[in-house]
Amino acid sequence: MSTEFHTSSIASLRDAQFLQVQGLAKTYPGSTEPVFDEVNFDIARGEFVCIIGHSGCGKTTILNVLAGLEEASQGNVIMDNREVSGPSLERGVVFQSHALMPWLTVRQNVAFAVKSRWPEWHPAQVKLHVEKYVDMVGLSHAIDKKPSQLSGGMKQRVGIARAFAIEPKMLLLDEPFGALDALTRGTIQDELLKICSATHQTVFMITHDVDEAILLADKILLMSNGPIARVAEVVRNTLPRDRQRASLHHEPGFYELRNHLVDFLVSRSKDLSRGRAPAHPPEVRPADAARSAAAGSNLASDTALAPAPAASVTHLHRVA
Ligand SMILES: Nc1ncnc2c1ncn2[C@@H]1O[C@H](COP(=O)(O)OP(=O)(O)O)[C@@H](O)[C@H]1O
Ligand SMILES: [Mg+2]
Repeated sequence: MSTEFHTSSIASLRDAQFLQVQGLAKTYPGSTEPVFDEVNFDIARGEFVCIIGHSGCGKTTILNVLAGLEEASQGNVIMDNREVSGPSLERGVVFQSHALMPWLTVRQNVAFAVKSRWPEWHPAQVKLHVEKYVDMVGLSHAIDKKPSQLSGGMKQRVGIARAFAIEPKMLLLDEPFGALDALTRGTIQDELLKICSATHQTVFMITHDVDEAILLADKILLMSNGPIARVAEVVRNTLPRDRQRASLHHEPGFYELRNHLVDFLVSRSKDLSRGRAPAHPPEVRPADAARSAAAGSNLASDTALAPAPAASVTHLHRVA
């Protein structure tokens, strides 16, 4: 076996396990039982992972542990082969509320983070870098405004620009769009998707919105209810990665995937509370059967003399 093969297989294992969460547990002082225990999952380099679970199951606590802002009671978090301990500019965080400095303009808010990350940079270099990321979230026209002069959506965009601007190894998002109206949320989701596919950013994002998870995530972690919550299941999103919000619900497998997530939230998350979820969650692919059935039917119609009418294909997708 060549050394070259050996080195490349180690590299691909490192990429597959870019972030490793092992046996994580958290018991807050004064409480007798853990919020969660035996939380185990991996995130691959460049993967977009969403976590869904009912309020209070410990999602924000997990994100804070990944950010190094909170200490776990048990377990380890290893990122890129190094144990996470304490906050670092290797990780960018976007909180539920925007957390901007109100006395600074958009430019100054983003520049503050950039200067912390690269203190040796020349002011002209900082300026160019800041303008690039503010432009990326479509806010060039508001770059010299203060947060009080911006809408809720614009403030969240600044938070996203600031997190991307430090070019973190990992981006952590805690329900970043929760407070936004549906229209603004949709636009920013599209922007985030575009930026992530251009930058291959590794993302861990909390959401309570199953449609948001299906649009954005490669992998969806389902958390059982607390106390003693766990990541009960890893759901692989096998819809095409270049998915679009407007047409996503026409993809074969979309409804199977969506129903699976909703069923978990409605009933299974409760049944799996109090440590009844497995410590090592199984991975499931709810869209696969419908997708291969649809692919089979397309194949059958391809071999026929005349192509199947579009309406019947759509119908098959729905019932598959
Ligand atoms: N600093 C804290 N001290 C004590 N209990 C906390 C603290 N932060 C969160 N909790 C409790 O831990 C549980 C999980 O909280 P959180 O991680 O915010 O859940 P989620 O983000 O899933 O809604 C909740 O019951 C909450 O009350
Ligand atoms: Mg939370």
